[in-house]
Amino acid sequence: MGKVYYITKNVGLGLLVLAATALVTIIALSIAYNKEKAKNRGKPGHGASYSTSMPTTLTTPFIPKEPWDYYRLPSSLLPVSYNVTLWPQLEPNADGLFVFTGHSVVVFKCVKETDLIIIHSNKLNLTTIYGHHAKLSSLGRANVPTIQKSWFVVKTEYLVLQLHSRLTVGTSYALYTDFQGELADDLQGFYRSEYYEDGVKKVIATSQMQATYARKAFPCFDEPAMKAVFNVTIIHSTATVALSNSKEIVIFVDSVPVRVTTFGPTERMSTYLLAFIVCDFVKIESIKNNNLLVRIWARRKAISDNQGDYALNVTGPILQFFERYYNASYPLSKSDQIALPDFNSGAMENWGLVTYRETALLYDPIFSSIANKERVATVISHELAHMWFGNLVTLKWWNDLWLNEGFASYVEYLGADYAEPSWNIKDLIILYDVHKVFAVDALASSHPLSRLEEEVNDPAQISEMFNAISYNKGAAVLRMLSDFLTEAVFAKGLSWYNLTIRTINVLCLGGCTCITLLLSSVCCQAVEKTPGLHIPHTVHNIMNRWTLQMGYPVVTIDTRTGRVTQKHFLLDPDSVVDRPSQFNYEWFVPIKWMKSGKEQQPYWLLQKTGMFIKMKLSGGGWVLANTNVSGYFRVNYDPDNWDRLLSLLNSNHKALSVMNRAQIIDDAFNLARAKIINTTLALRTTKYLAKERDYIPWESALRNLDYYILMFDRTEVYGALQAFLKKQIQPLFEHFKSITVNWTKVPTGHTDQYNQINAIGIACNVGVESCRELIKSWYRKWMENPNRNPRIHPNLKSTVYCTAIAFGSVEEWDFAWRMFKNATLASEASRLRGAMACTKVPWLLNRYLEYTLDRTKIRKQDAISTIQYIARNVVGMPLAWNFVRARWDYIFQQYGKGSFSFTNLVNGITKRFSTELELQELKKFQEENRHVGFGSATLAMEQAIEKTTANIKWVKENKANVLNWFTEETA
Ligand code: BES
Ligand code: ZN
Repeated sequence: MGKVYYITKNVGLGLLVLAATALVTIIALSIAYNKEKAKNRGKPGHGASYSTSMPTTLTTPFIPKEPWDYYRLPSSLLPVSYNVTLWPQLEPNADGLFVFTGHSVVVFKCVKETDLIIIHSNKLNLTTIYGHHAKLSSLGRANVPTIQKSWFVVKTEYLVLQLHSRLTVGTSYALYTDFQGELADDLQGFYRSEYYEDGVKKVIATSQMQATYARKAFPCFDEPAMKAVFNVTIIHSTATVALSNSKEIVIFVDSVPVRVTTFGPTERMSTYLLAFIVCDFVKIESIKNNNLLVRIWARRKAISDNQGDYALNVTGPILQFFERYYNASYPLSKSDQIALPDFNSGAMENWGLVTYRETALLYDPIFSSIANKERVATVISHELAHMWFGNLVTLKWWNDLWLNEGFASYVEYLGADYAEPSWNIKDLIILYDVHKVFAVDALASSHPLSRLEEEVNDPAQISEMFNAISYNKGAAVLRMLSDFLTEAVFAKGLSWYNLTIRTINVLCLGGCTCITLLLSSVCCQAVEKTPGLHIPHTVHNIMNRWTLQMGYPVVTIDTRTGRVTQKHFLLDPDSVVDRPSQFNYEWFVPIKWMKSGKEQQPYWLLQKTGMFIKMKLSGGGWVLANTNVSGYFRVNYDPDNWDRLLSLLNSNHKALSVMNRAQIIDDAFNLARAKIINTTLALRTTKYLAKERDYIPWESALRNLDYYILMFDRTEVYGALQAFLKKQIQPLFEHFKSITVNWTKVPTGHTDQYNQINAIGIACNVGVESCRELIKSWYRKWMENPNRNPRIHPNLKSTVYCTAIAFGSVEEWDFAWRMFKNATLASEASRLRGAMACTKVPWLLNRYLEYTLDRTKIRKQDAISTIQYIARNVVGMPLAWNFVRARWDYIFQQYGKGSFSFTNLVNGITKRFSTELELQELKKFQEENRHVGFGSATLAMEQAIEKTTANIKWVKENKANVLNWFTEETA
């Protein structure tokens, strides 16, 4: 185990004394804590908290007056290092509570005169030392001001110490705190996760600090720019292991069943990247590139079933890829990755100890699907990309989050492609990111990628930054930048960027800079040093158009005249944009294009209107712009060119790349939604699908037709739509039946495997004969022999389970529930959880809704997505809406506060809303719950109202037309 020393009592005498003192203190504190806790029951937050400046009434706007009223820390003190000791109790105390105790010393430097120490602390009980909540000492001989008073501010999550005199600029001080907190199962800060193994309940202590929860584990300067070195010690039972960001250096075993694990000092890093874990997991490990220790940790059963092997296999190549890409070696001496049974998001890039939801790290070679495998590869790649971009180079404040997450969301494809070159995974970005965010960013209620620092303050606003704009638009816009600079120049820019920032990190102590500006300027240097690369403006100027104004343009090309124009694309042409833009909603648009199959010189559209030269077309010639969807914009053409593109699709669709086939469909459908082209033109793009065998265009079409399904699955249009889909999917179904030799083999191509899933799923749904019977028989066989599930290939399981439950009864449902409860593979449990939402039986759906809020039935991490699955079902939607409305207060308090996935709940439930009644209900709901709040879903509520309004109009204007078209096509 590398450099771990197991020391004997003799050798470690000094340590023994230290540890014993720590133990005695902690045991004493733990007793005191329980007493204190009993006294304070019923009070929110801190035991002894008071704040003089909380708002007195709900109607008076709160104006911050005192330094502790501001959410941002004052700039007078900078942390240098911390020594943190934590002792989580994995057994409940006499009051039935799980707690942790700890103590910490933070060394900080005074850089501006002040007589206040303001440090974050949330939901911690601090032990009183000589009448105050902390003890201050100085390093060296400087005088130490005494503490006059100390108190907590609940709203801004601070511990405040008022000193009798001022701290001296240039002097370092040490602040000691002793504290206790609850090891709650709330997925935030230092928290508790539970699972069963061989019928025995196991408890884990683990952590999630991003964005503002480190302050819930120990008092700290909890802002990303407040980087420091952390020395961590964890006290735990000998039956468990302790993990943290650095390598363990000393494990001290005493005669009592307690172990003290001390970790080496970390790099200078932000608090949000810390991680502390105590569990009885096991690991697999290997030594990779230059002596780097790579370990995968998980439950014993998961490791013995080889579920960690794939993660271990891809981590090496992915790290190697990023080392080359960033031109910098992996900054730490070990890389731990751990799969946790309870985890709020998908994964978290804690430096050196990346935490994952089980489905994002574990892959079972026998029972997992290809989609599970892809998820594992891409999530690992995303988090490892952060080890440099985000962790080594860190944003100053959360307003710049898009660059951190957008960047990782773009380069995750490059890392995964290196590990799995046969997958062509880079193409999938257009479905997962570009098209996905096009839908959100076309709303008048969207917002720019960049926010001003002052606009993002409290934890809910920070949480709201983790949204589709930051992730998906961030990825799309960076991909565009990388494309017009070329990948080599972009990567070169990055390595300069890293170097520059690293220098600045050392110089400015704050460890930060305006990240966007620097990115532009280094890219600029890279451009200047690359002969032959010409761009019409500086990178900074070009990028400002995309980052400082919301939305994106639709570029219209008139092939008859060569005229090209741009306009802000709005899904609802009647929506009003009340957010002004300094650039007047004009962009610098890099247009790659081809004429009749021949790549042309890229064209930069720099104003509202421009002229393409060499546009003249001959014969059946056609123009296609935005090749491979490398630009973040939509394209419209004159009607003749549309016709030529459609006939090209019908006669020789392979003349266009899969991405461009998908783009033609997505652009046409959305242009039609925005009334820029006719709905029938959009529908005509799907006629060629009878010949299409590739996944990306099919998926694009299905997603767009999904809008029609949502709008019409409660109307007479649905029958005609289904008949059309049946006609189009039948050949695909037959194709896969034949290449899989009657469903006995697996298609070889990565995306072909996905398209097989689509073929079966849709075919069964629209009633292709033999499909439902086939699937029901597979499920029945499984019910007859529950211990073996070999007949159903893992790729097809989700579809099979869902279809069998949708067309089955309570027996099928209850069987799925039993299998769900017994599942030892998280992705299998997740498939079953999704499939149980497919039943059409209302009482089963209502019962399932009740289960979602019962933590003994559904894990807290899965509650929101389960409600979402139910709302996806046409029968479940109104039930879920009623359910959520009736319990908003509870759901918001328990699941919404600080949760970044909460927007999904609002989106999921309102997706189908398209009637006046639904709009009124939605508005009423928003009004009635204003006092409770919507947290990170505040914007999602606005967007839901905007989308519902647009849906009502769209249905009214298009219903007859659409019904006609589908009827004629299937006549
Ligand atoms: N830093 C995030 C995790 C996170 C998200 C923390 C929101 C706090 C709030 C991490 O890097 C991430 O982006 N995870 C993604 C998965 C990724 C593959 C897109 C997630 O959790 O979904
Ligand atoms: Zn991320």
